[in-house]
Amino acid sequence: MGKLIYLDNGATAWPKPDNVHQAMSDFYRNFGVNPGRSGYDLAIEAEQTVSKCRKQLTEFFNGDDPERLVFAYNATDALNQVIQGVLCHQGGHAITTNLEHNSVIRPLWHLLQRSDIDVTFLPFDKDGFIDPDDIRRAIRPDTKLVITNHGSNVIGTCQPIAEFGKICKERDVFFAVDASQTAGVIPIDMKAMNIDAVCFTGHKSLMGPTGIGGICVAEDAVIMGTRWGGTGVKSALRFHLEEYPYRLEAGTLNTMGIAGLLAGQEFIESRGGPEAIHKYEMELMQKLWEGIKDVDRVNLYCAESLENHIPVLSMNVEGFEATNTGTLLDVEYDIATRTGLHCAPLVHEQMGTDKIKGTVRFSMGPFNTEEHIDTAIKAVKEIVQMSKGWTRSLNY
Ligand SMILES: Cc1ncc(COP(=O)(O)O)c(C=O)c1O
Repeated sequence: MGKLIYLDNGATAWPKPDNVHQAMSDFYRNFGVNPGRSGYDLAIEAEQTVSKCRKQLTEFFNGDDPERLVFAYNATDALNQVIQGVLCHQGGHAITTNLEHNSVIRPLWHLLQRSDIDVTFLPFDKDGFIDPDDIRRAIRPDTKLVITNHGSNVIGTCQPIAEFGKICKERDVFFAVDASQTAGVIPIDMKAMNIDAVCFTGHKSLMGPTGIGGICVAEDAVIMGTRWGGTGVKSALRFHLEEYPYRLEAGTLNTMGIAGLLAGQEFIESRGGPEAIHKYEMELMQKLWEGIKDVDRVNLYCAESLENHIPVLSMNVEGFEATNTGTLLDVEYDIATRTGLHCAPLVHEQMGTDKIKGTVRFSMGPFNTEEHIDTAIKAVKEIVQMSKGWTRSLNY
């Protein structure tokens, strides 16, 4: 890893655990054939890896049935399938929030342009949380979908999804959760939380590779298929199969990604499970927060307290655009962060940070250390000093 300090785990977890590299390589070398299409031994072995991963992830989310754990390319793909699969065939009203990533905003926006649907975007409060009562009030007789972020990829706040789920259950509205930032660090119990669909991505806290994600679909949740093709079974039929997992899967699966995702689960277990990883990462987050929160001219966003947060912290140095701070962190200190709008423009519009080109985001992972955070704190303090001389020329 050299001397790079990687604090951009919100974009993707990096580095990946050794066992993930190993499992992917072993799988592809030994069983890299197409599963579910043939009866020879290798194909059966490959299918077993896929089935095992479906089973483990279903248990992980406390879903109902491993067959209803469907694989997608990533969270974006999973969210598109849920949004279109719930709304396309029936129209109606959807409720979402200003905290969403573009992988929720854009599918909804495109449906808004093309079809007869309506969308309500709920604002968050000053601390970055959605009031469950706002969801309750926003539900109308024609509301078909509530879709919310679990952990914000910009401000790190973690929403009370169990409360959202309870309201949706009472009002018989489909409840979908974007768990991109939380799956692997915050336990999600679909049954206890009344969630109809959890959309996840493999490459963040689930510690797997890119190119794999999916949806865990509850037993009685209805999502129509929105793409069709080969499944390897019942090939004579003109129609795509309605049964799971085929209903939402078409074409050859990313089996190597699935093998990596399965190994990611093993890594999480080896570190004591999601709660233990979260605890470790939040200790680093706390250290960073304490180190910079009182520094003059450092602005933190929705971080008065770190309760109900994931290890994602957005900040700016007053007078500096986010990119200036990010570039200095990179060039002068070898610290990788993410700057800008983080694909979540409504968060910034609500906070006013869209006018200063977003924020600098620090996001911690299981391979970060206290030394990394010490360096980041020192860097931020020095950048504040540097910025004093530069602010006038930057003109804001
Ligand atoms: C909250 C949230 N939702 C969705 C996504 C999309 O994930 P992917 O790029 O893996 O599809 C991200 C990625 O950053 C995210 O942070």
